[in-house]
Amino acid sequence: MRLVTAAVLFAAGLLTACAPAPEPAALPFKTGPGDIEYLMHYVLEPAAETIWDSAGSVITEDGEETLHPTTEEGWIAVEHAAAVISESGNLLMIPGRAPTAGDWIEYSQGLVDTGKTVLAAAQARDHEALFETGGHLYNVCVACHQVYWREAPQRP
Ligand code: HEC
Repeated sequence: MRLVTAAVLFAAGLLTACAPAPEPAALPFKTGPGDIEYLMHYVLEPAAETIWDSAGSVITEDGEETLHPTTEEGWIAVEHAAAVISESGNLLMIPGRAPTAGDWIEYSQGLVDTGKTVLAAAQARDHEALFETGGHLYNVCVACHQVYWREAPQRP
C-alpha cells in the first residue's frame, strides 16, 4: 500500500516536471522589439544617474565638492530612483524580454537586490553607504553589459 502511494506520488511528480513552461504569449505582459533599449534609456539610466550624481565627491576649481543630498527632497529623489532600479530588475526578467541563455536572470536579480541596498542607504540618510552601494550598482550594470551589450561603449 505504501509502495503504491509512493508510486502515485512519483508519477504525479513526473507529470508536474514534464508540464511545459507557459508560452510567453499566454502571459499578460505586453513586450515587443526594442524593449530592453527603451528600459535602459528611459528607466534605468535616469534612475542610475540620479543615484550616481548624489554620491561621492568631485574635484572642482574651488576644491572638493561633496555630492550627497543635503535636503530632504534630495534624499527622497534618491529613494525613488533606488526603487525604480530595483523593480527594473523584475521588468528585465519578464518572459519574452529575458534571454533564456546565460546569466541574464542572475544579473537582473542583482539589480533588484542592489537597488534595495541603495534604498536602505538613502532611507538611513547614510551618505557613505550610498557611495558604496552606488558603486556596487555600477558593477552590476557593467557585468551584464560586458556579456549582453555587444556594442557597448566604455560606459555603464
Ligand atoms: C540584465 C542585463 C543588464 C543590466 C543589469 C543592465 N543593462 Fe543596460 N543594457 C543591457 C543590454 C542588453 C543593452 C543593449 C540594448 C540594445 O541596444 O538593444 C543595454 C543598454 C544600455 C544602455 C544604452 C541604451 C540605448 O539608449 O541604446 C544604457 C544607457 C544602459 N544599458 C544603462 C544601464 C544602467 C545604468 C544599468 C545599471 C543601473 C544597466 N544598464 C544594467 C543589459 C543590461
